[in-house]
Amino acid sequence: MKKILGIVSSARRLGNCEIMVKEVFRGLDEPCELHLLRLTDFRIDPCQGCYHCLFKDGHCVIEDDHATVLEAIASADAVILAAPAYFLGAHSALKRFLDRGLCLYGSVDRLWGKPAVGVAVAGIPGMEGSTLLGIQNFLKLILADIRQTQVVYGALPGEIFLDDGNRSIARSLAQRLFDPTVSRVDPCCSLCGGDTFRFLGRDRVRCMLCSNSGSIYMHSDGTTGVRMEAADHQLFLTRQDVINHRNWLIGMKQRFIDLRKDLKPITIDYLKDGHWIKPCSMGHSTDCNKDDQA
Ligand SMILES: Cc1cc2nc3c(=O)[nH]c(=O)nc-3n(C[C@H](O)[C@H](O)[C@H](O)COP(=O)(O)O)c2cc1C
Repeated sequence: MKKILGIVSSARRLGNCEIMVKEVFRGLDEPCELHLLRLTDFRIDPCQGCYHCLFKDGHCVIEDDHATVLEAIASADAVILAAPAYFLGAHSALKRFLDRGLCLYGSVDRLWGKPAVGVAVAGIPGMEGSTLLGIQNFLKLILADIRQTQVVYGALPGEIFLDDGNRSIARSLAQRLFDPTVSRVDPCCSLCGGDTFRFLGRDRVRCMLCSNSGSIYMHSDGTTGVRMEAADHQLFLTRQDVINHRNWLIGMKQRFIDLRKDLKPITIDYLKDGHWIKPCSMGHSTDCNKDDQA
């Protein structure tokens, strides 16, 4: 029986994200097991940027819950993700996990190509900001095969199912999870299906999901299209892209060793500038200037 991992990126018990994940699961045609992970329950500390994990099969020096979450994703057959809009973006629990993403390169084979669907839940119609992109970024960077993502609206816990429209969306997401046919809604990135672009000037745009650039144009019927060009550095259209990016990151160590003598005088020049305000939790008073000068 297939193991489905439902990732709920909201602390609110029986909130809209939780019931959406469960509703999508209910819509699956084949019998599956649902395992649930409330991302906000897990302690995930900031990446220290030491690159240790890149050289140690993804093993991170930080002792927290990151490895538990990663293992839950790696051992699932498919993923259903839901996250709320918090201040115009996806809940930060998604980003906290992603910021430790260098560890993921140790599990490429177990992660690559897992079918996944995602839902952004926003309280106010039109006020989701970048939440859907946050969901898509999360799924892309856990190396999943994104089958469909969707925004739904509802503020109070349960409100998304006050009418049946969002239950139909849940059903459609469930159908798409194990359906390998790709259906994209234009205009979108022809390379990855992303639908969020940054305007670079004139007709040039960059896809915020795969990082490739292209140009927008208008069809004779007045609708717009996007013509994309694959670049050397893209996230991640093929498994080889992932390996190439990992190797590029690994190469950074040698680059740092080669450039260290030139870099050090640049950074050291800024050592004494300014007064650092430190958190009380570090055992400092709010006026830490004396510590700084010590
Ligand atoms: C701190 C906070 C910030 C929010 N920011 C937004 C927002 O920027 N845009 C929006 O449409 N809804 C916003 N909402 C509403 C939630 O997205 C909405 O209530 C959603 O249903 C919560 O999902 P949950 O029930 O799974 O927690 C916010 C809610 C909270 C608590």
